[in-house]
Formats: sequence, C-alpha cells, structure tokens
Amino acid sequence: MSPFLLTRTLPEDATEAALRADVLNGLTRTPKTLPPKWFYDAHGSELFEQITELPEYYPTRAEREILIARAGEIAAATGARTLVELGSGSSEKTRYLIDALTELHTYVPVDVSESALSQAGHALIASRPGLDVHALIADFTGPLTLPDTPGPRLVAFLGGTIGNLLPAERAAFLSGVRALLAPGDALLLGTDLVKDEKVLVRAYDDAAGVTAAFNKNVLTVVNRELGADFDPAAFDHVALWDADNEWIEMRLRARSAQTVKVPALDLAVDFAVGEELHTEISAKFRQEGVRGELHSAGLELTHWWTDSEGRFALSLSVAR
Ligand SMILES: C[S@@+](CC[C@H](N)C(=O)[O-])C[C@H]1O[C@@H](n2cnc3c(N)ncnc32)[C@H](O)[C@@H]1O
Repeated sequence: MSPFLLTRTLPEDATEAALRADVLNGLTRTPKTLPPKWFYDAHGSELFEQITELPEYYPTRAEREILIARAGEIAAATGARTLVELGSGSSEKTRYLIDALTELHTYVPVDVSESALSQAGHALIASRPGLDVHALIADFTGPLTLPDTPGPRLVAFLGGTIGNLLPAERAAFLSGVRALLAPGDALLLGTDLVKDEKVLVRAYDDAAGVTAAFNKNVLTVVNRELGADFDPAAFDHVALWDADNEWIEMRLRARSAQTVKVPALDLAVDFAVGEELHTEISAKFRQEGVRGELHSAGLELTHWWTDSEGRFALSLSVAR
C-alpha cells in the first residue's frame, strides 16, 4: 500500500445530487434550513481553521489541552493499530494522538472536504514516515465502509462535531459507529459542555466576523454549485442559545424581503424581511447525557476527561 491514498466513497455526481436534494428540501420548508456539511468547501474549511484560532472559540484549545494531557492514557487503554477519524478536517489536534499511539499502522481520516483531507494527508505522511494514511471522502451520517486494516481500531470524533447533529441523528450516528466496532475497539468522542450563555454565544459570534463569514459561505456554495443568486450581504449572521434544547443555533436572517433564484432546481425562494434560514445547531452536553446516549447506542463509557476549566470533555467508550 502507498503511504497516502485518497478514496472517494461516493461518485461526485452523488454529492451534487445530495446538495440538490438538501437545498430543495431545506428551502421549501418552514423554517428554511440548510445542513451544516455544505459549509465545508475549500474556503469554508479554511474559514473553520481560522475560527479555531479565534480568542472567543475555546473548544479547540480546550480539546487540545485534554489530548496533550491524556494521549498516553488513551494509547494505553486502546493499543490502537488503526485510527479512524470522522470529520477530521485539518487533523491538527490528532497529531498528539498519532504520536502517542506507538503501535499505529494506519490513519483513516474521513471528511466531506477533499481539500482538507488532501492537505492534512500530505502533511502527515511528510512528518510521520512509516504511517499509512488512507483518507476517505465520505459523509459520516451515511453508511461507511472502512478499509481492511489491522485492529484494534479507535474511532475518533473530535471537535464537538457530534453537537451538529439533532438528537435523533445522533442516535442513528452512534448506532452506526457501534456497528463499526469489534471487541477491543473503542470510540473517542469530543463533546462541548453546557456553560455560561455569554461564553457560548461569543464563541459563535466573534468580534472579527469570521464565524459570520463561515455561516454565509453556505450561500456562496449554493450559488456556485446550483447557479443561485443569494446575496450574502443581504443576510445577517445570528447565533443564539436555546436553553431548552441546550444548543447554540446559527441562522442567517434576511435583511430585506427578497426572492432568491436557484436555476438548477427551477426554484424561486421568497424570504420575508427578518426571516431566518437555519444553518447549524451546536449542542452542548453534560456527562450523564453523553453516558446515556452512548448506552442507548450499545456503548459503555469507560473514561471521561475534561480540560482544567471544565469546558470540554473527551470520553472513551467501548461496545457493550
Ligand atoms: C467542526 S469541524 C471539526 C474539524 C476537526 N475535527 C476539529 O476538531 O477541529 C467539522 C468537520 O467535519 C466535516 N464534516 C461536516 N459534516 C460532515 C459529514 N456529514 N460527513 C463527513 N464530514 C463532515 C467538515 O468538513 C469539518 O472538517
């Protein structure tokens, strides 16, 4: 096997068909929605990397702190020879794990962003000689076929990305992960924790406006891929805390009444002034909730680590 393989698990026209279906479904319902996976073209992936360095965006720093402190324990507990990472992005924090996993044979980053996978994969093989990297362009909410690599397998899902799924989607996702685990395999899950509302809202509405640009990038993606005529400047970025559901919501609020055309779908979409397009939720968690959701999916939590300020948690779980 060559040290870096990039495999598309779905043909490109399937991605386009999925975007068309999501845009048609999302823009013709009330409230209007677009799924967050469409943020991540090359520019969106780059904007996300900028977000991770913002002073207001604590999750990346908090999770990195835990990984630095606990990578050795994670390695000892799992002895993983294959590390599968879902929604791997830049794989920047994963390096601490890769360095600690002394028996590691293959790293399998999985992401919808081809540009992120390609950059991360090439950087990793240059800096980690001997490591096989088999990147998969795939949607982690669908069925995944993983390459046949040596076990034990550690599946990592970092960054709090699980919070972007609705509760029913999370349940389906965790059951899917459970199905990937053989005895001796484990799941390493990053979850952002419930905290002060002001801290949370600031993390999704930064002073420099990078998160606003990231949120509006979904409109640019729909313009480019489906010929739509969204004017990103005609929408305001909104981030709010939903205390009942304990999640942050990102929305795009129309600054004026307007009609947006989507020629590829033969669609004209009316927005009333102030109407909001829902683009992302980011659920925040408590330990008992995480334990319960894992349990319902057939997984048992074995370790729970937080950063020194108790903002973010990494948990390890195994099949029950
Ligand atoms: C919030 S970022 C986290 C990136 C990285 N894991 C981190 O901790 O910094 C989410 C990542 O998941 C990817 N992603 C989002 N939805 C996805 C999906 N449905 N299937 C596969 N990847 C997805 C994005 O491209 C992005 O790289």
